[in-house]
Amino acid sequence: MSDAVDIEVLIDQARTAVAAAGSTEEISQVAVSFTGKKSPVAEAHRGLGALDPEARKELGRLLHTARTTIEELIEQRRTEISFDELSREMVASKIDLSEFVPGSLTAPSSRGHLHLVSQTRDALEDVFVGMGFEVAEGPEIETDWFNFGALNIPPAHPARGMWDTFYLSLGEPETTLLRTHTSPVQIHLMEEAVLGGGLPIHAVMPGRCYRRDTPDARHLPVFHQIEGLVVDKGITFADLAGTIEVFTTAYFGPDIHSRLRPAYFPFTEPSAEFEVTCTICHGDGCRTCSQTGWIELGGCGMVDPAVFDAVGIDSDEWTGFAFGFGIDRCAQMRHQIADMRALIENDIRFLRQF
Ligand code: DAH
Repeated sequence: MSDAVDIEVLIDQARTAVAAAGSTEEISQVAVSFTGKKSPVAEAHRGLGALDPEARKELGRLLHTARTTIEELIEQRRTEISFDELSREMVASKIDLSEFVPGSLTAPSSRGHLHLVSQTRDALEDVFVGMGFEVAEGPEIETDWFNFGALNIPPAHPARGMWDTFYLSLGEPETTLLRTHTSPVQIHLMEEAVLGGGLPIHAVMPGRCYRRDTPDARHLPVFHQIEGLVVDKGITFADLAGTIEVFTTAYFGPDIHSRLRPAYFPFTEPSAEFEVTCTICHGDGCRTCSQTGWIELGGCGMVDPAVFDAVGIDSDEWTGFAFGFGIDRCAQMRHQIADMRALIENDIRFLRQF
């Protein structure tokens, strides 16, 4: 490997080996044997030090040319090979959309339908629209202010533990988040009213919510809620209780009723949890309702004056009530779905039933 002739031979050998390589793996092996640490070019390079300056310069130049020529050949072939491999892969994964399935012309066609959760959301909206509510929506990405601050949940408030939050890496840490409930839409509506839309407000706000919960039979990390808000003159707790009862019988049927139990939410005072008759045992007591005959559905209460203050509504003039509950939970109770995870598994045999 000391003169120009050897180098020409070497380039020829490389050219033959490169042309014979048919896969990414083979071309990589060719690269190792012709340009790697143990290749003849590398070895000759190591021997340069022993030559006199003139010969060293001459051979050095030749080795450099040889190496670049061989590397170019290898790169060119590598590109060809990866193109071939990609084309082969594309042909193999081709789907024939014009394929004719025997019998498909005579079989009754099955049309898709809305997912059970969408159907439930529509049904709930219908009930509330029938009672005089409007339907509103808000963003799923919120700032801390809308999801917590304006709802009377300042930073480090212990009640934040009720909502395990997904924060987004946007802006200052923990300022932007995926909403943990639909209650922030109340704040948007009240701000719009103050900015010009005017009061009163009678609205329901359905939508998707997110919590860092492990999925189980009764929880999903991405789920749906429907929020209700009434702000008007002379609204009382009796209006709230009556609204919940009318909704319950309208949605679940005449033998399912509601009851309110004292609870705590930072944005309502007083606050309550609302429960409905267990849809499995119809109130007799069973495993699902822990023998109580009742199942908790959501939270509610009278809008806390601190929330009115946050949006600039005069709480001496206006009062209101709010409620919020899970849409998926409603679907689960009405259709007796043992495990809520079935709603997101996309098993067509399950979905087709509804
Ligand atoms: N946002 C609450 C939650 O997700 C539910 C709730 C409770 C909504 C009371 C309300 C309310 O509007 O008044 O846990």
